[in-house]
Amino acid sequence: MSIAITNTLLEKTRSLSIEETLTFLADEFNDKVVFSTSFGQEDQVITALIGKNNLPITIFTLDTGRLFQETYDVFHKTLKKYQIDIKTYFPETSAVEELLNQKGPNSFYESVENRKECCFIRKVAPLTKALKGNSIWITGLRAEQSENRNDLDLFEYDEKFDIIKFNPLLKWTLEEVQKYLDDNNVPQNALHKQGFISIGCAPCTRAIVPGEDIRAGRWWWESSHKECGLHQK
Ligand code: ADX
Ligand code: SF4
Repeated sequence: MSIAITNTLLEKTRSLSIEETLTFLADEFNDKVVFSTSFGQEDQVITALIGKNNLPITIFTLDTGRLFQETYDVFHKTLKKYQIDIKTYFPETSAVEELLNQKGPNSFYESVENRKECCFIRKVAPLTKALKGNSIWITGLRAEQSENRNDLDLFEYDEKFDIIKFNPLLKWTLEEVQKYLDDNNVPQNALHKQGFISIGCAPCTRAIVPGEDIRAGRWWWESSHKECGLHQK
């Protein structure tokens, strides 16, 4: 059933531009199309497309409570520039309080299990809330970001969240993303100029050096497990 839907969507949008596809999805699925942004470079391209074309797509972010100040800066600039709403989902206060009371503020460095517990409380549980009742989840995933993401499709059925994902920039290169941002004067996270490519929470993200994998700066102390549970890849 879900595979049939993703194939139909692929077929119907094959000759459309990203803007046209977003418009088509917004029409087809009424108010049930949402886009998640962490204000990364890819997300900023999609926000610019939605903002410039005034598309009826709900944009939301998961504020983990541990983001960089530079991320809040680009969040604020984006609101001003496009005059859009970005809905913020915050973790449950009681869950964060309990985690800190039991394990302290930096438990994520102590084991993968602890790290996943923090990601669950601060990201996965709020995401579950944000996606509930919606039909399409737009993301900024790109194939080039990691080996895992290489075999993603433009439309994917996400079993965990029971929703169809649309990854419009799947085949874009990082250079294409950066060119779009520069050409269109889109607000960007100041950390990109300091060697940060993929940016998540402050305590769990470091800059990378040329030649390193794009995601090497995420949970850098772990040798594998480079996902937080939002995406299965
Ligand atoms: S992660 O799984 O490693 O954290 P990544 O940072 O590569 O994901 O971002 C991939 C996509 O996941 C983004 O384009 C965005 O759609 C979504 N995403 C990641 N983090 C957040 C966040 N904090 N809030 C909203 N969306 C997010
Ligand atoms: Fe917690 Fe780090 Fe996961 Fe952010 S990335 S939710 S701080 S473990």
